Amino acid sequence: MTIREAIDARHSVRQYLKRPIDGAVLNALQNEIAACNAESGLNIRLVQNDPDAVKGLWASYGAFENADNYLMLAGPDTDDLYRLAGYWGERLVLFSETLGLSTCWIAGSYKKGRVKKTLNDGEALAAIISIGYAAKPGKPHRSKTFKQVTDVEGDAPDWFRAGVEAALLAPTAINQQRFRFTFRDGKATVRPLSGPYTLIDLGIVQYHFEIGAQKPIDIEQ
Ligand SMILES: Cc1cc2nc3c(=O)[nH]c(=O)nc-3n(C[C@H](O)[C@H](O)[C@H](O)COP(=O)(O)O)c2cc1C
Repeated sequence: MTIREAIDARHSVRQYLKRPIDGAVLNALQNEIAACNAESGLNIRLVQNDPDAVKGLWASYGAFENADNYLMLAGPDTDDLYRLAGYWGERLVLFSETLGLSTCWIAGSYKKGRVKKTLNDGEALAAIISIGYAAKPGKPHRSKTFKQVTDVEGDAPDWFRAGVEAALLAPTAINQQRFRFTFRDGKATVRPLSGPYTLIDLGIVQYHFEIGAQKPIDIEQ
């Protein structure tokens, strides 16, 4: 499965099997986490066998089950932490999908105080991502249209359309899709609109756009 195919295959999963992550898969995941940290300066880590971070908390879509493993999206406490966590966390989400693992971003419905106890000095936590083998598959989210999320001057090139289409498949907090893509003077930009966690969403859709378009995109914040 390619990363572009993982964009189509991925849906949030909240119910997992009580099954540890297999050795070879775990190795590949740990290597990718290390590569992301080296490139980004973040300190993302995988926590295994901690059923209490998410247990018993209800999300609007139902309770989490066996969400015993999760990625902590931690890093230096800077203004850009949320967008960076979105970008690099989504790279790990899509990589995990290619390994046969399912995921769910969780910025609200987890025990923050408990998880934050393990942070180092100077670090902050943007969100966590549950990760494991799906007990119940996720399903496609309802999506805004290309027109609803873009401002285009003239004719948009195919790469811009491909980028926005990949972004529309991205996870966003409460499926809000509060972002706007612009194509002007031959240049693509994306900016967040107001809403909860839209800076994390911004990083996530930036990554999806880049995979879909095969080009980088400018950020307006
Ligand atoms: C930044 C962010 C925060 C999220 N926080 C939560 C959460 O606290 N609880 C939860 O159940 N789902 C959470 N989600 C998952 C979204 O509800 C889900 O991505 C969205 O409904 C779209 O569905 P999909 O991921 O299956 O495409 C979050 C997603 C993102 C991107």
